[in-house]
Amino acid sequence: MYMEEKISDKIDLDKIEIYPEPPAEEPARQYYFMAKCRNLVKKFERENGRIPKACVVNFGCQMNARDSEKLAGILETIGYGQTEEENADFVIFNTCTVRDNANQRVYGRLGELKWYKKRNPGMKIALCGCMMQEESVIEKLKKSYSFVDLIFGTHNIYKFAELLYTLLETGERVIDIWKDTDKIVEELPVERKYPFKSGINIMFGCNNFCSYCIVPYVRGRERSRQPEDILNEIRRLVKDGVSEVMLLGQNVNSYGRNLDRPVTFAQLLQETEKIQGLRRIRFMTSHPKDLSDELIDVMASSKKICRHLHLPLQSGSTRILEKMNRRYTKEQYVELVHKIRSRIPDMAITTDIIVGFPGETREDLEETMDVVRTVKFDNAFTFIYSKRTGTPAAAMENQVPKEQVKEGFDRLLKVVQDTARSQVGRYQGNVMEALIEEVNETDAGLVTGRLSNNTIVHVPGDASMVGTYVQVSLDECHGFYYMGHCVGI
Ligand code: SAH
Ligand code: SF4
Ligand code: F3S
Repeated sequence: MYMEEKISDKIDLDKIEIYPEPPAEEPARQYYFMAKCRNLVKKFERENGRIPKACVVNFGCQMNARDSEKLAGILETIGYGQTEEENADFVIFNTCTVRDNANQRVYGRLGELKWYKKRNPGMKIALCGCMMQEESVIEKLKKSYSFVDLIFGTHNIYKFAELLYTLLETGERVIDIWKDTDKIVEELPVERKYPFKSGINIMFGCNNFCSYCIVPYVRGRERSRQPEDILNEIRRLVKDGVSEVMLLGQNVNSYGRNLDRPVTFAQLLQETEKIQGLRRIRFMTSHPKDLSDELIDVMASSKKICRHLHLPLQSGSTRILEKMNRRYTKEQYVELVHKIRSRIPDMAITTDIIVGFPGETREDLEETMDVVRTVKFDNAFTFIYSKRTGTPAAAMENQVPKEQVKEGFDRLLKVVQDTARSQVGRYQGNVMEALIEEVNETDAGLVTGRLSNNTIVHVPGDASMVGTYVQVSLDECHGFYYMGHCVGI
């Protein structure tokens, strides 16, 4: 784990005056509570002869993962040691609720935590993230999960230190959920998972209300960060050894629209490109309806923007797309891909597809498969539709029978795999640049790298190569990844 250089490095927690009333403004208020928590952690150390350990577990998307790094940064600042073991002194689950199976995983793992807590009654258990923004979840937790000590949502995550202090000081259960917020608190500590690459939030929330999706309800309205705050964060990261960034938002293409001085996403990318020492820029996710010609121009002329675009299709049937409230047609999507590929031929395109949206027929699914065959995605994440309480689609009639969904899902998956294999494999025999990310988990004689187009390649190597850029020969394509060898730097 790598602590980012932030104002947290300049602030000495031991010098913060913690007796008077807490400051009202942020982030000073949170640093005040971090200092107070730190005293309690020191007390724990004196009494137990060891530092307490904390475990942060992430269940959601890249945005949630970035939030988890912020939670870890605060825990680190307070004095907790980090562990991946869930029988730690403090365990926090950062939850996701985009599909029901994400929720079920959390309940399953909570059952295990209850067990650990029985053996270590001093253990504290916390839940936060998207699932906590659902009333029915909170009701269930209150009723049947009394061993959970701290519960908060997505809007007040910046108050983590304050909420944790209340719990540690009183020993009593703390539940604090906000319905929404318009606030963005900058300059809290963050602890990164990788030293050489990082995600960066450029915006929060979503205004699109796709009819199946719960994200706008649990993440609130779209709010963009100020470009200068984003660029300064990237500059700091680069100084700290980061060479690849991923700009994160539910729909990055609408970035900046609601700022006092509006900025486009393409303009933000151009400014990011100028940062010296930064080598790769990625971003997620692009909504097809908002992908501008300006953005295509910027991508085409950029030396740093990676040759990978994640462009969720969801369905290839215009009829279903309309019911999904996606605001593009099958033809518009295909046309957009052609436009991008004609300007940037080596752009890898990946997508998300939902099978089993209410009312989806076999013919609709054929339309989707037709788009997959035409576009030839480098990869497609296929999801079975999951009914989310409170979304318009949940109230729609003719939910598709399970068997039909399963059968359609399997057929689609086959088409996706066949087309992706030939797409990914088109560079076999070429030499390309890879950023080496880690030592291979199953074979310590191999390292795993990522090409600009997001394809994975395994090459012989060792830990000293991690974080470096190397030229690799792509010898053999195995479906979604390559086996290769390093030919130089
Ligand atoms: N903001 C991103 C997607 C975020 S959710 C975008 O608009 O592309 C990630 C993916 O989860 C979505 O692209 C969609 O394919 C899938 N998803 C969202 N809600 C779902 C649901 N109710 N059932 C199944 N899949 C869903
Ligand atoms: Fe959900 Fe649509 Fe927003 Fe993506 S754009 S988060 S799918 S509502
Ligand atoms: Fe899940 Fe929340 Fe992300 S619902 S997909 S963690 S925004």
